[in-house]
Amino acid sequence: MSDQGQFDTLLRETRTFPVLPQFKAQSNVRDPAVYTQAERDPEAFWAEQARELTWSTPFTQVLDWTPPHVRWFYDGELNAATNTVDRWRVGPSKNRAAIIWEGEPGDRTVLTYDLLGREVDRAAHMLTRLGVKAGDRVTLYLPMVPELVIAMLAAAKIGAIHSVVFGGFSAQALRDRINDAGSEVVITADGGWRRGKTVPLKANTDEALIACPTIKAVVVVRRLGDHGPVSMNHGRDWWWHELMEQMPADPFPAVARNAEDVLFTLYTSGTTGKPKGIVHSTAGYLTGANTSCRTVFDLKLDDVYFCTADIGWVTGHTYVVYGPLSTGATVIMYEGAPDWPDRDRYWKIIERYGCTILYTAPTSIRTFMKWGPEYPGRCRLDSLRLLGTVGEPINPEAWMWYSEVIGHSRCPIVDTWWQTETGAAMIAPLPGLTALKPGSASLPVPGVSAQVLDGQGRPVDPGGAGYLVLTKPWPSMLRTIWGDDKRYQDTYWSRFPGKYFTGDGAHWDEDGYFWILGRVDDVINVSGHRIGTMEVESALVDDHRVAEAAVIGRQHDVKGQAISGFVSLKEGVESSPELVAALKQHVVDTIGAMARPEEIFFTAELPKTRSGKIMRRLLRDIAEGQALGDTTTLADPQVVESLKQQYEEREAD
Ligand code: WTA
Repeated sequence: MSDQGQFDTLLRETRTFPVLPQFKAQSNVRDPAVYTQAERDPEAFWAEQARELTWSTPFTQVLDWTPPHVRWFYDGELNAATNTVDRWRVGPSKNRAAIIWEGEPGDRTVLTYDLLGREVDRAAHMLTRLGVKAGDRVTLYLPMVPELVIAMLAAAKIGAIHSVVFGGFSAQALRDRINDAGSEVVITADGGWRRGKTVPLKANTDEALIACPTIKAVVVVRRLGDHGPVSMNHGRDWWWHELMEQMPADPFPAVARNAEDVLFTLYTSGTTGKPKGIVHSTAGYLTGANTSCRTVFDLKLDDVYFCTADIGWVTGHTYVVYGPLSTGATVIMYEGAPDWPDRDRYWKIIERYGCTILYTAPTSIRTFMKWGPEYPGRCRLDSLRLLGTVGEPINPEAWMWYSEVIGHSRCPIVDTWWQTETGAAMIAPLPGLTALKPGSASLPVPGVSAQVLDGQGRPVDPGGAGYLVLTKPWPSMLRTIWGDDKRYQDTYWSRFPGKYFTGDGAHWDEDGYFWILGRVDDVINVSGHRIGTMEVESALVDDHRVAEAAVIGRQHDVKGQAISGFVSLKEGVESSPELVAALKQHVVDTIGAMARPEEIFFTAELPKTRSGKIMRRLLRDIAEGQALGDTTTLADPQVVESLKQQYEEREAD
């Protein structure tokens, strides 16, 4: 791999940070035997972890592995809402804060476990009244408000499957996800707050529903009130607060679910234009979420845990909702932007609530670095005891800044590598046991086995780089892709038969530490958000003036990667700044603002090999302004020259 040289340099410069003794002394996992025991008998390890959950029918069977299909704990029964809320509603923990919520405009609410449970019960009654039954799909398109958690857990309580769609997705993206899931109910809000502006979620939903034949009811949370008047469609649309008021206060009996019943689907981008509905099971997923919170995040009952991810992504599912609530901790949930009203918002939140654990993305850390240390410097951060990162590789500079400026050099950092598909952290330190190397996610967690393979599927030697695979099934792995098991098999299991292919490249050092290099497939990671090149390309060619489009991810200082579009126009169409703006806007309307191309280059033709394959490597070089690599396989070197020229002209102005 070409990144090898770069990594050799990095490794030579890398410092290792030993485990902090004061952290180890109090940590949940202190005995290194956990690694060897889990490796010797992963099934016994995972069974022991799964017994931490509350089961209505305990399991007697642990694993059924018929590659690539898996079942874990499959004769057991349980309910995810019972495990996240009801188990804490007995005894003194019932009055412990489950969710401390802060809205962007400054409004605040605390829901104790008991109050959260009452709301979940009411919402379960409400969904039942709307005709939702076990196995039905409910789409949730909401801002970061407590009602989102309540709706997820209410769906789980009645055995329905939730499909959360990130509020930043466009109407069209929402429509595709509703139709793919075949949802009958969608829960949305009149809108949400973002940087002092409102996000028109209900209007987007109305637009989406023009072509969603399965939807029978829409429930609307009133978040904006007078700030966001909406039109209600009589007979289809209901106000959340009006329905909730009418519901009985009686507890809703949790529906017992088989361990393998689907808890949720979550759409993520792949290498084709169509997003994949990743399917997660109930027991296996909860086992992964709960175990990693106890081990990787060292979560305890008195922790105040702040994961800044939106619940619309898997990080929010696992580390805002299911993981921390299943361990009985207190979760901070914040609706808005980190720079609203000022760039110290996160630090104010940490100070105000005595937050002990912060989990955020490298792209955010790089942004905070750019803003400067004065903002965190305004607040007391000494309640923090552990920091985490996720979503993309973290550069060692950002790691050091995070450690020193935010953690005051007394907090371990857990760099957690995982995916929507893996459900929970897979490669991550155990903070009381693992020495840390800035930039490396370190070692697979106990019970997980990872390898780096070469193109022929042979494990590379320590010091080498290649393709990252997971070699054994784990409880929180995806079970399939919603409605498309063949795609599940092809995407994850055909490249290296019997092994799960992650789509990431990795370097493996002499100590067995993993260094994630990023995606090797056609997925771009923009600020930790996965975007398929094909999705953006099909949005671009959607415009009648575009003949052909190719999209690549180029390096970006803050976002990790940014999207560059290369477009050839139809005969007679002239390029213009207006056309660039229109094309960018069309991508936003089709997918969402996070997919907006940073720049669009026009070219008479896209550079292709003789066999007609677009030369993305070359496009990447052009976008990054690098010297051209080997172009001998190019059909028409002229094309590249013209692209390169455009890039340089742009740089010049
Ligand atoms: C990337 C997010 C390096 C990786 C939980 C993966 C990371 C993709 C890390 C999954 C990390 C996630 N270091 N890269 N600690 N964590 N990634 O599905 O490329 O949104 O394949 O899940 O993010 O993104 P997803």
